[in-house]
Amino acid sequence: MASFPDYRPRRLRRSEALRGLIRETSLGPEHLVLPFFVVPGDDVRQPVDAMPGVERLSVDHVVTEAAKAQELGIPAVLLFGIPPSKDEMASGAYADDGIVQQAVRRLKAAHPNLVVITDVCLCQYTSHGHCGVLVDDHVDNDATLDLLARTSVSHANAGADIVAPSDMMDGRVGVIRDALEDADHPDVAIMSYAAKYASAFYGPFREAADSAPGKGDRRGYQMDPANADEALREVFLDLDEGADIVMVKPALPYLDIIRRVKTETGYPVAAYQVSGEYAMVQAAGERGWLDAEATLLESLLSIRRAGADLIITYWAREFARISQKRL
Ligand code: PBG
Repeated sequence: MASFPDYRPRRLRRSEALRGLIRETSLGPEHLVLPFFVVPGDDVRQPVDAMPGVERLSVDHVVTEAAKAQELGIPAVLLFGIPPSKDEMASGAYADDGIVQQAVRRLKAAHPNLVVITDVCLCQYTSHGHCGVLVDDHVDNDATLDLLARTSVSHANAGADIVAPSDMMDGRVGVIRDALEDADHPDVAIMSYAAKYASAFYGPFREAADSAPGKGDRRGYQMDPANADEALREVFLDLDEGADIVMVKPALPYLDIIRRVKTETGYPVAAYQVSGEYAMVQAAGERGWLDAEATLLESLLSIRRAGADLIITYWAREFARISQKRL
């Protein structure tokens, strides 16, 4: 490599046009997925305190908001359901007329080209708030698998394009893949939350989705933030069981994991920019402590640079609006 003064990196930073010519990472609305929190009822909009700008919406509003997002160039949405009632066995998760199933049907009828992704987990649906079935105060892995498979098939029956299991039970991708095959849904893709860490950054989400565990925490099934090699093992397991896209979550504190997963697998990688990542920038922006718009752009770009193909982000619409203004 040439050295100074033959090589002066600043020569190519002199204008936006020059910078644009050699920019290594692209970021557009086509890379983003917008999450929705779906609540029962009609004409319901409930702001989420800990996530300024995010609302829980009834299905009618989800349908109109998804149309607006699609017009902004956002190709996909991710649905979380808040059911009218909860029980020990999470029956609302796999009910044919469950909240997510209703939303998927209405969305696909109104916007057939919209990619509809459903979060598959039990925590919003269980009375105890854990992601699986409790047996003697312990989240029982194998007893949970069948319910996750039933949930995935019912989402696919409703028309979901991609199911996204976020529970972190072992073996669930294989069971879901088999169940989708048996139910004649060979084309429904699985985006597995493969490396999902037990993270404090999920705090605001648990208010939005009403899914905080009543007792205990999720460290018995979600990953230890100290581990990176283990994330690769989780990812390879899920790919082996039939995942089409593997996810790393959260995103910004785990850029090293995103990079390793991309380099070492070569598969499509998703990153979830979670509620806490969103909330901390919004809060600092509201106080004038940092420029929220510039920070959201930089953080999304960094997640792409680390190796994410797609990013799930509550800022999808803001990003799309900002990029339209700049064109
Ligand atoms: C459900 C689930 C969670 C998130 C996505 N799916 C919460 C959790 O595991 O406690 C977090 C998303 C976010 O924080 O934005 N298991």
